[in-house]
Amino acid sequence: MPATVVIGTQWGDEGKGKIVDLLAADADVVVRFHGGNNAGHTLVVNGEKTILNLIPAGVLHPGRVCMMGPGVVIDPEVLTAEIDALRKRGYLGEDRWLRVSERAHLIMPYHRAIDRARERLRGAGKIGTTGRGIGPAYEDKMARTGIPVGELYDEAGFRDALARNLREKNGYLEAILGEPPLSFDEIHARYGEYRERLRPFVTDTGVELRAALAAGKRVLLEGAHGMMLDVDHGTYPFVTSSSVVSGAAAAGAGLPPRAIERVIGIAKAYTTRVGSGPFPTELTDALGERLRADGDEYGSTTGRPRRCGWFDAVVVRQAVALSGVDGLALTKIDVLTGIDSLRVCVAYEIGGRRRELPPATQRDWERAVPVYEELPGWRESLGAVRALADLPANARRYVRRLESLVGAPLTILSVGAQREQTIRCDAAFAA
Ligand code: IMP
Repeated sequence: MPATVVIGTQWGDEGKGKIVDLLAADADVVVRFHGGNNAGHTLVVNGEKTILNLIPAGVLHPGRVCMMGPGVVIDPEVLTAEIDALRKRGYLGEDRWLRVSERAHLIMPYHRAIDRARERLRGAGKIGTTGRGIGPAYEDKMARTGIPVGELYDEAGFRDALARNLREKNGYLEAILGEPPLSFDEIHARYGEYRERLRPFVTDTGVELRAALAAGKRVLLEGAHGMMLDVDHGTYPFVTSSSVVSGAAAAGAGLPPRAIERVIGIAKAYTTRVGSGPFPTELTDALGERLRADGDEYGSTTGRPRRCGWFDAVVVRQAVALSGVDGLALTKIDVLTGIDSLRVCVAYEIGGRRRELPPATQRDWERAVPVYEELPGWRESLGAVRALADLPANARRYVRRLESLVGAPLTILSVGAQREQTIRCDAAFAA
């Protein structure tokens, strides 16, 4: 049975948590393939809100195997706290339901310290990172000085790697960033505790995942972040440090690309972004504030207010094309209720030229002027609607227009945070 990938098509926070939770009901294994605890998934089940930063959203379905693949970076302090919090609430009943790749890289305290100090020094030019050490951890991985999770279990090797890295990082922290040095003994002792806490979960996830597929299990690959934060295809340098597109899922999970059969792209019915960087359709007026309030647009990881704006078809069109999106999951359309006239960005004008796809350079991003199309709004509340045919005509028209602008058919429409506030439009995913 082939795998399905779910990815965000904007700047993250598209509502992936809810959609993955829904799709996980039909999956046996749910895998994260990139990023770390910079991601945040908010799920509301039976009125109870859960925020997950690392463990795949499938964890709220007992019996699902949740995996973190080699492409993920793992802060063991966050992972162990998340395991504890979930267990306290009755989830993750068995150790075998959580699998952590021995090849995933560890986020170390010096990664966090460097991330935050650099952002502070950048001042107005900051990227607006989550401060979780994600970028510095991926830097070390690529520089071949990172420490994979499996190295924790070679105690002498871990001690050597930590001592070597800390010498270098403390020099950098003190001399360049003006930060205090970190203590070897403290980190060594703490990571020794994580070694034991994580022992039941650490494994070669690639082998287990490929075996699950061969045995006909249904696999869901859960993207974190959004396509415009992709390190190759996003609004560089205002991006995260991993590959977000569906093409990265195979490598980050440990699968051949042909194992992936279907790609679901998640888009919010409007646009949000946390952190700095270009956002052509941003609304800095009262309407933007209204979207933030009605959509509860505050970062689930950092609590920062999200920047809000109109739906940008240029961005989602790019995501659909790059990731081969087969079906669109559109979220939070209920938040648009009551806005008389809705705008959708259909193209950008850059230096007098119309562009259907995003530009590559910062200069062009700064000059990009959205070309808008106006669509009539609706006043009816959508939270109780359970069939497309029951949507107000203008809401249906809005959805249909987005489908045609981005080039992908609707597969799921979400009309509220609860699991049941969902319209499934695709027989392949019918419950
Ligand atoms: P980093 O991933 O912490 O290095 O942050 C880089 C950029 O990506 C910042 O603008 C963050 O706000 C943004 N970012 C990272 N993860 C997410 C996410 O899950 N949702 C939304 N924005 C994110």
